[in-house]
Amino acid sequence: AKAPSLPYRVGHGFDLHRLAEGYKLIIGGIDIPHTKGCEAHSDGDVLLHTVTDAILGALCLPDIGQLFPDTDPKWKGARSDIFLKEAVRLMDERGYVLGNLDCTIIAQKPKLSPHKENIRNNLSALLNADPSVVNVKAKTHEKVDSIGEERSIGCHAVVMLIRKDL
Ligand code: CDP
Ligand code: ZN
Repeated sequence: AKAPSLPYRVGHGFDLHRLAEGYKLIIGGIDIPHTKGCEAHSDGDVLLHTVTDAILGALCLPDIGQLFPDTDPKWKGARSDIFLKEAVRLMDERGYVLGNLDCTIIAQKPKLSPHKENIRNNLSALLNADPSVVNVKAKTHEKVDSIGEERSIGCHAVVMLIRKDL
């Protein structure tokens, strides 16, 4: 029997990248001036990876690493908006639209508040969503553990999808 099509679907995403010199820091598709950036096979956009996984999770689909294996040379240096756009395409194909999204970026440095509106607007555009349903927050890690010691940046997100025909 065909699985029932839920009216609402909640998804959770988490990601973390090591910070290293010699990489650009790209968060939500925005270039952030900083001494270090996220080490990754792709462009290391921790926010876009998190949101991609939250959407895929809501749909009970394979995660970002399964859809885009980092062993595949095709994704070397890839812009992460490719991954997010594929998740958005799958969401549409399965009959859902974004209800709302809430994200928390955890970074000891740099200060993200000056970039938050840019990030939010770019993320909304990638999601074909109004900025009023997209929220981006930032926290430090109180100088403890890898994030707090500026060796990594983490991100969490929750998303709610709504069935299009509701
Ligand atoms: O005060 P509390 O411990 O809740 O938060 P915090 O980690 O000390 O961060 C204080 C505020 O700084 C946050 O609410 C963010 O608005 C901002 N922040 C930021 O702009 N960029 C970061 N990388 C971290 C925090
Ligand atoms: Zn990632």
